[in-house]
Amino acid sequence: MPTTLASDDRYGFDNSTRDAQDQVGYLAAYLDPHTFAVLDGLDLPAAGRYADIGAGAGTVALWLANHGDSDGSTLVIDLQPQHVPQHPRIDILQQDIATAALPPASFDAIHARLLFMHLQQREQILTNLVDALKPGGKMIISDWATDHLDDMFIDGPDTVRQVFDDFQHTLIDVLGRGHGMDSTWARRVPAVMRSAGLQVHSGMTFNEVMHGGDAGMLLHASNSRQKEAELLDAGMTADELELLREAMNNPDVLTRSWPMHTTVGVRPAA
Ligand SMILES: C[S@@+](CC[C@H](N)C(=O)[O-])C[C@H]1O[C@@H](n2cnc3c(N)ncnc32)[C@H](O)[C@@H]1O
Repeated sequence: MPTTLASDDRYGFDNSTRDAQDQVGYLAAYLDPHTFAVLDGLDLPAAGRYADIGAGAGTVALWLANHGDSDGSTLVIDLQPQHVPQHPRIDILQQDIATAALPPASFDAIHARLLFMHLQQREQILTNLVDALKPGGKMIISDWATDHLDDMFIDGPDTVRQVFDDFQHTLIDVLGRGHGMDSTWARRVPAVMRSAGLQVHSGMTFNEVMHGGDAGMLLHASNSRQKEAELLDAGMTADELELLREAMNNPDVLTRSWPMHTTVGVRPAA
């Protein structure tokens, strides 16, 4: 029986801004090849019922809707779903996932990428979602681990390395202290899935090397614009943020992304 939860809206970004539109686009461009490869390997039924929670640009919801046949359906739940495309097999619910009541044993797959790390009641919400999976249904959760920030910069001028490292530490601190983001949750997901009653099916880490100009690098520039006021309050200067933005467009600068941990759990057959 799902536990009733209070609202869980401390998300650190606002999808209604111009920069957030870029942000969800960069996330999709950078991460979709990984996510689609994982989904492709799961043998999801064509007439399935799917959910994408915290859908952002909606590209994963679109993949699920296109994977399904005319009997398939995909439910999107997002606080601000305005970037999710219209599709005859996508239903969009604008809601906080903490307070959403999903029908029990009704989904073949529930996907959430870069959502749970931002939630405060993440363990309880995951447990509630297990109840909504059919027996044999799969839960696919991907989140960044953002606690090894000094390992990210690979090559480029020393001035850029310094500002990149400062930016990463300041941003993650702003999102953690200001918005309750959890930097280590991504690695805990397999254990939390198990204690919520799922079998762990598989887990993998996506952690690419990126050049300035790549979508994953432009994401940092976009984040620096969206969080500019809080970054300045936390001690960064406008000149440092400008240098960071230029560097994220410079193909000679090489960094690694935050590692994204993807875990797939399966609800045991009844
Ligand atoms: C970082 S974006 C990730 C978007 C997309 N899943 C991706 O990986 O490209 C997080 C998304 O989760 C949504 N979100 C955040 N907190 C939420 C909540 N409590 N309930 C529902 N959606 C939420 C945001 O509106 C946003 O669209």
